[in-house]
Formats: sequence, structure tokens, C-alpha cells
Amino acid sequence: MVAQLIDGKAIAGRQRALLAGEVVAFANAMGRPPGIAVIRAGEDPASKIYVASKKRTAESLGLNSWEHALPEHTTQAELLSLIAGLNAQEAVDGILVQLPLPKHLDTHSVLRAVLPQKDVDGFHPMNAGSLFQGKPTLVPCTPLGVMKMLEEIGYKVEGKRAVVIGRSNIVGRPMAALLLNASASVVLCHSKSDVRAETLRADIVVSAVGVAGLLRGDWIREGAVVVDVGMNRGEGGKLCGDVVFEEVFQKAAWLTPVPGGVGPMTIAMLMHNTVQAAKSRCKL
Ligand code: GUN
Repeated sequence: MVAQLIDGKAIAGRQRALLAGEVVAFANAMGRPPGIAVIRAGEDPASKIYVASKKRTAESLGLNSWEHALPEHTTQAELLSLIAGLNAQEAVDGILVQLPLPKHLDTHSVLRAVLPQKDVDGFHPMNAGSLFQGKPTLVPCTPLGVMKMLEEIGYKVEGKRAVVIGRSNIVGRPMAALLLNASASVVLCHSKSDVRAETLRADIVVSAVGVAGLLRGDWIREGAVVVDVGMNRGEGGKLCGDVVFEEVFQKAAWLTPVPGGVGPMTIAMLMHNTVQAAKSRCKL
């Protein structure tokens, strides 16, 4: 078997086109478009690229966007005060704090300071708790994008065995919760797991580790769906995922490429969350 590729770029494009219509409808009803504020602290080069891309996408959809670039030495109090101001601003529907923050800042209390209704990353413990309890809420963008991709290929998750590799708060844990809420049987693997023993039994494998070359062809069951969330720099700075593409391509039924797979979906889902947050704040 050779895999069919899941074209995240194309799916994200269709999502953005649908959202553009919702943005116009919102603006007609409220006299302003939905707005997102993005906070970045320090000089992490990857964060700068991500934030610029989020802002560019927001603007291309007609959203308001504000970037707050804080210096590396920003204090916890300064950051909390910025967030409090944005929480109170009517035209700000979504607030995103780009991670990782500089080491001296306490990420957990920063994320807790964002008003849950404006938490378009879904990282506030209130939203994470709602997700875990299977209640509708703002959901982290990358795992939400993965669910959207599965839906787009017409894959029925119910009753399937799903293996998620990586237990981060950004991807692995919310991914496992979403698959569970969709009635898959879920195994959440991490550095202490016998990962291959689990993936060999899996219908769906989502890898969110950040190790190039981790997932080999002989780790995957024939006909599985394999979603590669890895973003690694390979030889010559080339972007690659966790999956050994040529090998898994020969085994899987469906496979997401890197680049052009999950990556484009994440920002599309951030826009989706911003529009959702705006609509529910304004009771539309
Ligand atoms: N850093 C890596 N991924 C993400 C994400 O989805 N959101 C934020 N805020 N920071 C990140």
C-alpha cells in the first residue's frame, strides 16, 4: 500500500475561505471585525516567524490584529498588566501569548491570567479542564487542526485505536482528549512508553515529539492514518517531521507531509477560534 497524502495546505485554504465570510457577517452585525492580540516576549527566532505569520493571516481575513513585542527582560508584573489591559478591551476577542516565554517568566500563571473567553489558544486551565470533561470550549489549535483533517478525509474516529506520542499541553494532551471525546480508544505515549508496541496496534498515530526519524515504517500497521506534528530542522536546515516519510508512505493509508500538513492547519484554527470567541462574546 502507498499512502494518500492529507493536504493541510489545501484544507487550511478552504477553512480560511469559509472564515472570511464569517468575518464579514460579524463585522456587519457589530460594526467591527473580530480582533486578536498576539503577545511575544524576547528574541526567539521561531516565535518571531510564527507571530508574523499569525498576524499576516489574520489581516488577510480582515481581522483586527495587534502585536505586542516585549523585550527579553520583561517582568512577570509587566506581562500580567498587559494581559489585564487586553482582557478589558472590548475590541480584543482573542489573546495569544506565544510560547516559549523567556525562562524567568512563570508560563502557567501567565496563561491563567488570560480571560478564558479570550483564550484562543485553549491553554487556560479552565478551557483545558472543559476539554477534558468533554464540554464545548476553546480548543488548542494544532490538535483541533488534526481533527479537522481527519474529518476532511472522511475518516471515522469512533471505535478506532488512536496512539498519541508526546504529552505536551500544547499538542499531546489536548489531542488525546479530542480523540477520546470523538470515541476513539486512546493511548497517550511519552518518553517512558514502549512506543512501537503501541503504534503497531494503532489505527491512528499522531506524533508530536520533535525528533526527526522517530517513526519508522516497521512501527506502523498497514493501512493506518499517520499524522506528523513534528517540526524539526533536518540536514541543511530543511523542515522535516517525526516520521521517516519514505518508509511510512509505503505502509500507511493516509499520511500528512511536512511541510504542508499540520502546520498550515494550526494558524487556520487560530483564526477559527478567534471568530468563535468573538461570536460567543457578542452572543452571535
Ligand atoms: N508555541 C508553539 N506552538 C504554539 C501554539 O500553538 N501557541 C502558542 N501560543 N505558542 C506556541
